[in-house]
Amino acid sequence: TTATYAYNDESFWGPTVIVNQGEEVQFNVKNGLDEPTTAHWHGMHIPAIMDGGPHQLVKPGETWSPHFTIRNNAGTYWYHPHAHETTQKQLTYGAGGLLIVRDAKEASLNLPRTYGVDDIPVVMTSRRFYMNDQFSFEGDNDKYGDYELVNGTLDAEFTAPAQWVRLRILNAEIERGYNLGFSDNRTFYQIATDGGLVDKPVALKRLKLMVGERTEILVNLGADKVGSSVDLMCFNSGQMFGYPGQEPGTSRPNGSYLNNRDFRVLHLNVGPATASAVTALPVALVKNAFPKVSEVTKSRTVNILGGEPGNAFNFDGKGYSMHQIGQVIKLGATEKWTIQNSQVFGHSFHIHDVQFKIIARSDGPVAGYEQGWKDSVYVPRNESVTFLAKFDDFASNTDAFMYHCHMANHEDGGLMSQFVVVKDPVAYRRWAAHPVTAAMAKAANRSAGTVAASFVRVASTGARVDLAAVSAIKPVVLYFIEKDCPCSKEAARYMSQLQREYGEKVAVVGVINASSAAQWSAEVKPAFPVVADPSLQIAKEYGAKRSVYTTLIAPGGRIVKTYAGYGQGMLTELSSKIARMAAVSPRLIATDGAPVALTSGCLFR
Ligand code: C2O
Ligand code: CU
Repeated sequence: TTATYAYNDESFWGPTVIVNQGEEVQFNVKNGLDEPTTAHWHGMHIPAIMDGGPHQLVKPGETWSPHFTIRNNAGTYWYHPHAHETTQKQLTYGAGGLLIVRDAKEASLNLPRTYGVDDIPVVMTSRRFYMNDQFSFEGDNDKYGDYELVNGTLDAEFTAPAQWVRLRILNAEIERGYNLGFSDNRTFYQIATDGGLVDKPVALKRLKLMVGERTEILVNLGADKVGSSVDLMCFNSGQMFGYPGQEPGTSRPNGSYLNNRDFRVLHLNVGPATASAVTALPVALVKNAFPKVSEVTKSRTVNILGGEPGNAFNFDGKGYSMHQIGQVIKLGATEKWTIQNSQVFGHSFHIHDVQFKIIARSDGPVAGYEQGWKDSVYVPRNESVTFLAKFDDFASNTDAFMYHCHMANHEDGGLMSQFVVVKDPVAYRRWAAHPVTAAMAKAANRSAGTVAASFVRVASTGARVDLAAVSAIKPVVLYFIEKDCPCSKEAARYMSQLQREYGEKVAVVGVINASSAAQWSAEVKPAFPVVADPSLQIAKEYGAKRSVYTTLIAPGGRIVKTYAGYGQGMLTELSSKIARMAAVSPRLIATDGAPVALTSGCLFR
């Protein structure tokens, strides 16, 4: 018996989630661990605030409910924890799962797609065990396992029908790369990369799959005798220096019993064909429209540095900090990124938000199996990779997306950074550099988890507002108003909507930095009481110097989150958090007209 982490009723890893393009989905991620975690939707094109990176931390016992529309192509994606510095640990214990997207184009093709019959998930990883059968986890010492696990199973085998079968393969390792092929060297056909189907099947004998990457392949078992078998193999012997898993030797920190050798990944027994067997390989799949070099509006280079003794791997000389934005990208831009790795070891570069198209490698032509949509890519030692990506749809001044090495030990060690996609980079830089903005963000971060300071006031409506009493029984939204700020008035519309939609289930309270609460209310007609705070006594307690701050207090009086500004993403998040706390279904707040990016509006007035 081995202690593990898992999702839902599984004992290692999590259930495969299957979603359709166009669907609006909501996940309720309840953290049953005794440490914080996050749930990241790897490869998905969704708003940053729903992304589940290190910023969307879910504390023990809490539930996080992101929701988003499925815009990705049919393909194989995955979910996994992404809390800074604990990703390797949580992955090692087993947290992760597959996320399969289906769409109409894929459905119209004659492909194997009966999950677990002729459409088979293959999640590859390895583990090292202590003598007492527990996972060995001592950080970088245990980046390589000694035993292969496929879908959490040692010595995995599967009986596949004698016909064309589809394998959806994920490299869910901590660090090891896989040079895949079959034991009898048969040809197989790649039909999908990280971000969906390729234009037409690619015939291969070998395919390198690095950490975080996915591939879908078709293999023909139609000519195999029932009762025979063939193995999916990892041919890792004889790789070049710097290839993850090439290191010779069996001992820590760099060796492993699986290193620098060929080993079996999955033993396939051939069983009888099914009634609805796919009997031919499709000639063509889809027509992908990739970004073109002629469309590039900005080029940038990201350098992988460090790796010498005492100097951890990092991007551009800086380790990871939650408060440091590595790249600022204009919404709608098509960019050319070159990842330059001048260091001693290969890495698996991964970027959130987008799927990219690889256009060049310094070490030779781009491989046949790297021609489709990608979100993760192998950057060998002393080489560079160049790709194109379009940063569309989602902008936010405050919510960042991540880019990092997907080797979890490197990511935890600081080979990670973040980028924001913003409508106007010049205005963003001005906003971000402004001391008030910095102070606001800091104050907002500080308050989460603390007990809300209480107050008793008479509101503009004449009602007595006793924060301790109200927040004892229901969630409270404290909305800080700056008297003369037009944004305060605008946001009041949305706050009123929240109050109306949730009725008795939530208490919205306005706090105005003036004695004229009644006058302001008469003008704006908010659907919530407004209390006067001319001495800024309440505002100071909450660190809310300026409008527009919004603080959400959970029943019981603990601050869940303070937003230094308001915006579409924030309003949606607020609504879903209230719904969870009030145990009702989320209300749709019409956020049209609210800023796409979180904004404090009036700073430059
Ligand atoms: Cu698979 Cu940033 O993650
Ligand atoms: Cu790395």
